[in-house]
Amino acid sequence: MKAIPKAALSGSLKDYRALKNSGLMSRAESFFDWQDLRRQHGLWPYARSTSSAPRPRSEIRTDAGEASSGVNFASQDYLSLSSHPRIKAAATEAIDKYGVHSAGSAALLGNTAYSLQLSATLSDFLGGREVVLYPTGWAAGYGAIQGFVRSDDHVVIDMLAHSCLQAGAAAATQKVHYFRHLDLDAVARRLANIRTGDAKNGILVVTESLFSMHSDAPDLRALRNVCDAYGASLLVDCAHDFGCMGEDGLGRIGQQEMLGEIDIVIGSFSKTFASNGGFVAVKTRAAAEYLRYYSAPHTFSNALSPVQAVTVLEALSIIRSGEGKELRHELRDNVNHLREAMTRSGREVLGEPSPIVPVRVGGEALGRLASKYLSIFAGIANLVEFPAVPLGQSRFRFQVMAAHTAEDVEAMVAAFNRAMDSAEAELERIQAGAGTQQPATFDADQVPLDGTLTAT
Ligand SMILES: Cc1ncc(COP(=O)(O)O)c(C=O)c1O
Repeated sequence: MKAIPKAALSGSLKDYRALKNSGLMSRAESFFDWQDLRRQHGLWPYARSTSSAPRPRSEIRTDAGEASSGVNFASQDYLSLSSHPRIKAAATEAIDKYGVHSAGSAALLGNTAYSLQLSATLSDFLGGREVVLYPTGWAAGYGAIQGFVRSDDHVVIDMLAHSCLQAGAAAATQKVHYFRHLDLDAVARRLANIRTGDAKNGILVVTESLFSMHSDAPDLRALRNVCDAYGASLLVDCAHDFGCMGEDGLGRIGQQEMLGEIDIVIGSFSKTFASNGGFVAVKTRAAAEYLRYYSAPHTFSNALSPVQAVTVLEALSIIRSGEGKELRHELRDNVNHLREAMTRSGREVLGEPSPIVPVRVGGEALGRLASKYLSIFAGIANLVEFPAVPLGQSRFRFQVMAAHTAEDVEAMVAAFNRAMDSAEAELERIQAGAGTQQPATFDADQVPLDGTLTAT
């Protein structure tokens, strides 16, 4: 194996964000050189594809075309609904009836009987809120802020809020105020400051009910009280917990009994509802109608296809049923098992129990090497590194599914431990200037279900 150059183990996507020179296209070359160097050394773990359904054991390919298979903790299919027979049957029937395309934006002729039924059913699940559908969760987060906030208004936003929320805020106003992650006092101080100088414009406080890189959550009641004290509205993005957490599936908003208290609820269908798509739920018909014509990704983008709408509708019906409750319990048990097993093997597990289990690795070089070895040891999980998380705090984000078995969990932990040991050893060799060694190879079929692993 070729020695790994230092450049492949250092640098980050942030280095290439603000490229300067007049060639808008050609200046991407420097990024590509760095990315491709990582790719050539098996250190580019992004843009992989699945060659099978996103199941607990999956086949994947890197973006260089290298195939592997293993135990899969990298898919966002928390309740394992993506291959549910009822959903597949409903989707097939919808194709027979409607074809595959909605052929218009929802503001024109893009709605179908399925999307109307989905809005109504989701509204009922959300206690009568008005629901506006979007082509993706990203579009919903962006579109809600861009739709409601104007250039004189203020957005006060958690510094770790998702890209769609940050982009929506930046598109809407220059008065964007970031506050330290989950820091209620910082929100209160900022709101007091704003209100001292500006009593007449709007303020939107933006947060998430479950942060996807840290698996932590705000105290929504306390945040609501702070908003009320300063006449601010509250937006909560519940992309990762809606449908898959809480006894009834209403996520942390339900667990904290805050459903009626939040002005704007954002949701995504892409984690639990087996489809692309998203929604914004507001309290009044007027607010919903306003969004339909002033929120660009709803007004000017094609509506959910009939297949997507019926998929989410069927998923919602399962989520609300006894089966949904059982799936949530299975998911919760798997989450607890994975967190305990990682902790038992000396790993630092971050945040609170949720379908996202972040496990700290540390430096970027170690993370990249660990990710390379994880595939070799038949484990599939996503590495998250700077700038998605702070520098030196790379981590693996294990995403748990209801369909994982106890054996899958044990196999993942064993593969991860092996990967970390190998990565640490290789990093030491590199730092000592001794270059790299050919790693022992492992075959996915040789990962026994008791989680131990045999080198070939
Ligand atoms: C908080 C949050 N909002 C929105 C999105 C985007 O959702 P979608 O994948 O449906 O576009 C994500 C996806 O990761 C997210 O984590």
